[in-house]
Amino acid sequence: MITIRILKLEDVKNIAVLHQMAFDNFFLTSLGNNFLNKFYSSIIKSSEGIAIGAFDENDEIVGFAIGAKIKKGFYKALLKNNFISLSLCASKSLIIRPTNISRLIKTFLTNETSNDNFLSYATLLSICVSPEKKGQKIGKFLLEAFETEIMEYSSGITLTTDRLNNDYVNNFYISNNYTLADQFNQGKREMNFYIKKLK
Ligand SMILES: CC(C)(COP(=O)(O)OP(=O)(O)OC[C@H]1O[C@@H](n2cnc3c(N)ncnc32)[C@H](O)[C@@H]1OP(=O)(O)O)[C@@H](O)C(=O)NCCC(=O)NCCS
Repeated sequence: MITIRILKLEDVKNIAVLHQMAFDNFFLTSLGNNFLNKFYSSIIKSSEGIAIGAFDENDEIVGFAIGAKIKKGFYKALLKNNFISLSLCASKSLIIRPTNISRLIKTFLTNETSNDNFLSYATLLSICVSPEKKGQKIGKFLLEAFETEIMEYSSGITLTTDRLNNDYVNNFYISNNYTLADQFNQGKREMNFYIKKLK
């Protein structure tokens, strides 16, 4: 049986491990475990952050959905308040490849500035399920829990995901009643921008 609960700072270590398994070959993953720890703890500490976890019968984390109550200003504030510590945590990767610094800033800021129409909506930054539990509706369960939690603060949710070679994830959002509202480029990546009106 899967249970859902709000994530706390003590869960961050397990969140980072799960992120690395679920987001293989993603840019943020390439910044390393320390970076992911800092990134997720910054969101959990933020009064604007929302973090929900799915746990199995052994109380092990098998998925999470993490985002912000209001999209406007969230990424900028996260970068501004944590830039030095986030950079230090990612230092090995940033020293090897200094262009990663601008890529990190771009990744955060294009999400925020890509579409001005839904800035008062909440944003889903990251959702994942343990690879061996994929396709068991844990993702759906998490998304619904995230929506219920966010309803108190926002009238809708925005999110972005890759447009190409990503049918599973795009189908996942469409089958959960998200609407494709826009498309944009994040560097060379072509992105889909989805929204869901909650009230
Ligand atoms: C995307 C993710 C969170 C979905 O979680 P999940 O628990 O596997 O998803 P669910 O079981 O709730 O739903 C699966 C949905 O995906 C789609 N899907 C399932 N199998 C599919 C397949 N073989 N091909 C295409 N789409 C498929 C369907 O839309 C299905 O929903 P439906 O049966 O109600 O129509 C999870 O697979 C994951 O962690 N992926 C890697 C990380 C990632 O890319 N996250 C998204 C970042 S934006």
